[in-house]
Amino acid sequence: MTTLNTEKEEQFETPLFTALIKHAEKEPVQFHIPGHKKGNGMDPEFKEFIGKNALSIDLINISPLDSLHLPQGIIKESQELAAKAFGADYTFFSVQGTSGAIIAMIMSVCEPGDKILVPRNVHKSIMSAFVFSGAIPIFIHPEVDSNFGISHGITPDSIEKALNLNPDTKAVLVINPTYYGVSGDLKKIVEIAHLREIPVLVDEAHGAHIHFHQDLPLSAMAAGADLAATSVHKLGGSLTQSSILNLRGNLVSSKRVQSVLSMLTTTSTSYLLLASLDVARRMLATEGQALLEETIRKAERTRTKINEIDYLYCMGHEVLESSAAVSMDPTKLLISVKELGITGYEVEKWLRKHFKIEVELSDLYNILCIVTPGDSEDDLRVLVEALTVLSQEFKSQDDKNIDSSVLLPEIPTLALTPRDAFYAEKEVVDFEQSEGRIIAEFVMVYPPGIPIFIPGEIITKDNIEYTRRNIEVGLPVQGAEDIEFRKIRVIKESFANK
Ligand SMILES: Cc1ncc(COP(=O)(O)O)c(C=O)c1O
Repeated sequence: MTTLNTEKEEQFETPLFTALIKHAEKEPVQFHIPGHKKGNGMDPEFKEFIGKNALSIDLINISPLDSLHLPQGIIKESQELAAKAFGADYTFFSVQGTSGAIIAMIMSVCEPGDKILVPRNVHKSIMSAFVFSGAIPIFIHPEVDSNFGISHGITPDSIEKALNLNPDTKAVLVINPTYYGVSGDLKKIVEIAHLREIPVLVDEAHGAHIHFHQDLPLSAMAAGADLAATSVHKLGGSLTQSSILNLRGNLVSSKRVQSVLSMLTTTSTSYLLLASLDVARRMLATEGQALLEETIRKAERTRTKINEIDYLYCMGHEVLESSAAVSMDPTKLLISVKELGITGYEVEKWLRKHFKIEVELSDLYNILCIVTPGDSEDDLRVLVEALTVLSQEFKSQDDKNIDSSVLLPEIPTLALTPRDAFYAEKEVVDFEQSEGRIIAEFVMVYPPGIPIFIPGEIITKDNIEYTRRNIEVGLPVQGAEDIEFRKIRVIKESFANK
């Protein structure tokens, strides 16, 4: 009991942030980088705007302040507190977002030629990790929700089957939860993988908060996963770009993770980002439960109100009807607008123009709004009001011919590993004429950043059409060298399937 109390008490401490403040208070004479020297050597307008407090702790790894590359002091202490808060054995801080943590996570476990089971709807950083590491992805088809036109999780069954077919698999990667807040049965997947001593790596970019409230999906660490890359900056309250990599168990070596992370990390780590991780962890550990209780309540009330608006539908718990979708994060408001006869992107622009509302993302059929402890009742009231006006404005177009069918192309077949395709000899062809060729570039809509094509896949007519459709409606399609998508780089003279 006393130990428990002590553990709870220590979560109020912020060793890193406190040490930085104390250091700045001493007003040291700085003959080290950053050269702006507490802001005195920088553009005055920016200095004024950012403020002297922030600039006084924009420091570098001088010895009293420890080093992210070999933490032995205040960073180590802060990481240890984070590990306790997140239920991990080790927590590593990342100043390169979850993208950096994900690449380190995969490179820590997979060597060139190693197989890794992974859902196809993964973020581009995972695909980049395959190019860097040389790991061979074995794609598992995620369950598709044809109502919203999004993918959910993968089923334990599909993992079991894939492992039977590929007993030499080195790792299983799971997204928990998805961008839209849906989680599959991670605990069961971990059990299946661990029976074979295969580590489970989790992309927890959208789950920094889930460990801190019982009504949210099970966190990676609570489900027994081995590694989890978590965007504390997205939903955990820290500054943009600051993330963590959590590790538990003994299937993955902490020393290996530390050394790979260090290989991939800038030597000029931002202490503003690190300090923000320290304080975000304090807030989550000490107040997270209460703050999230309130946030969930607000989001649920907003969901109910949105579902009373004609032509709109906000995803709720009814979506959980398979082992690929066993729990959901109610703070995500995924709103289908397809019955209005306009795209999610048009709604995004309309909300910006008429109500100064900025959404998290839009796609052909939906908009996504995230609710966090940072939202007031008033913010949510404005959202409901705006959506009500939107519905009235567009429902008056009685003659509109609503096409509410969802276009979801097949996942392309992988003909070459992403790394081989990336480094192969290439040529440039017309995108419209590229059906059947093996693509050498990534193509994705960002956000959410899930690739339509990855290097090594065979281009299909459906996917060319899907890419075109996204470009036509103005969605941010990116990844290819030709940003207009007239041309595309493919593997030279390799006609697959022909
Ligand atoms: C599912 C998923 N994984 C990973 C990332 C990468 O996270 P970060 O932006 O922190 O690098 C994102 C970012 O949008 C994401 O949506």
